[in-house]
Amino acid sequence: MHAPLPEIMPLRVGIAGLGTVGAAVAGILNRQANQLAARCGRPIRVTAVSARDRNRDRGIDLAGYRWFDDPVALASDPEIDCFVELVGGSDGPARRAVETALAAGKHVVTANKALLAAHGLALSELAERTGAALAFEASSAGGIPVVKTLREALAGNNVSKLYGILNGTCNYILSRMETEGLTFDDCLKDAQRLGYAEADPTFDVEGFDTAHKLAILTSLAFGTKIDAEAIHVEGISSITPFDLRMADDLGFRIKLLGVAERTKTGIEQRVHPTMVAKTSAIAQVMGVTNAVTIDADAVGELTLVGPGAGGGPTASAVIADIADVARGTVGLPFGLPVSRLEQPVRSAMQRHEGGYYIRLAVADRPGAAAAIVTRMAEAGISLESIVQRRSEAAAARDPEGRSGAPVPVVLITYATTERALRDALAKVSADGHISENPQVIRIERE
Ligand code: HSE
Repeated sequence: MHAPLPEIMPLRVGIAGLGTVGAAVAGILNRQANQLAARCGRPIRVTAVSARDRNRDRGIDLAGYRWFDDPVALASDPEIDCFVELVGGSDGPARRAVETALAAGKHVVTANKALLAAHGLALSELAERTGAALAFEASSAGGIPVVKTLREALAGNNVSKLYGILNGTCNYILSRMETEGLTFDDCLKDAQRLGYAEADPTFDVEGFDTAHKLAILTSLAFGTKIDAEAIHVEGISSITPFDLRMADDLGFRIKLLGVAERTKTGIEQRVHPTMVAKTSAIAQVMGVTNAVTIDADAVGELTLVGPGAGGGPTASAVIADIADVARGTVGLPFGLPVSRLEQPVRSAMQRHEGGYYIRLAVADRPGAAAAIVTRMAEAGISLESIVQRRSEAAAARDPEGRSGAPVPVVLITYATTERALRDALAKVSADGHISENPQVIRIERE
């Protein structure tokens, strides 16, 4: 007679939030149950779920799951071991539910970058105290395993810079505006229809979603405390078809980048539309695809490229974390105890150094361009090129240029500081030659 095999306890999972990602997680856990059980050494079973609308058709059979209207009640259910938070939002039910689960020693898997950017340190401390896992691979760059890469695969490196396309919606919008000449609004509607955009798309297009992800990745890259408030954030809603055409003419593409860099003066964190050389690797990343480049001393330059949003890719990352929990291989959330994460020294945006694209609406009269160029020279800013480009319609209306009507003038600068540029532009505005706020897009040279 053989001794009976020890009973293998399944990991009992509760999923809060059954939107695009939650439904995909439940579907994959169901379809891949046998394979996951073999890989993790124990079955993973969804036992309970929570969402707002019980009757919505999500394309999955919910009959076998206990239903909770309130995610906080699900988080305290004694019959789950792992709470998967896909509710979203930095506060409210998502935060209360995650705190409840961690306080009870339940493992938490979340895709919620807003929550982590705002409360990641406090939640990590709570997880450390109760011995629970707090895993968040899906929070940054969708299906790209960048959290594990930074925390585990690059443990032997010192990272000097990290930058990337971290928002699929923005990259999708910019790519389609560029290649199909569509409007911003039409592209945004398609991104929402395809399930890429956040519930409030302002988070995507104004750069906040990228900033939340960058805050998390900066902490992992540099071993520093999350410092989301230090991030300089600009979105893409002010980018016009004219800017995209000019970028193309000048050999650039426009991408919304998140950049974190150790500089002489501290850690610079910034999110803004960026001109990148058309020939660069990052410029080739189109559509909803994300990319993260990491510069580190031992490995050199590493670029990860992959789908950054959508149900399947995000669910893939969530399930990787659930599998770690099932195997018992989850480390500390940020790779170090919170007490050992450094307080980052902030490098102010005014100290940023780089080239700039500046589009001005300049009154078309003698001396206007000369006055602008003089202000640039006074600030020590060297110009790489100057382009004045009237539309055909404007040229037809006023072939002699006598009306003084505004005309777009684009300046490309060599490297200068943000402070010098802003001071010069303030003087240009005060001189009265321009009729709109200047469009300023930073240039990132590899
Ligand atoms: N709205 C996000 C994006 C989804 O477009 O990238 C993933 O965080």
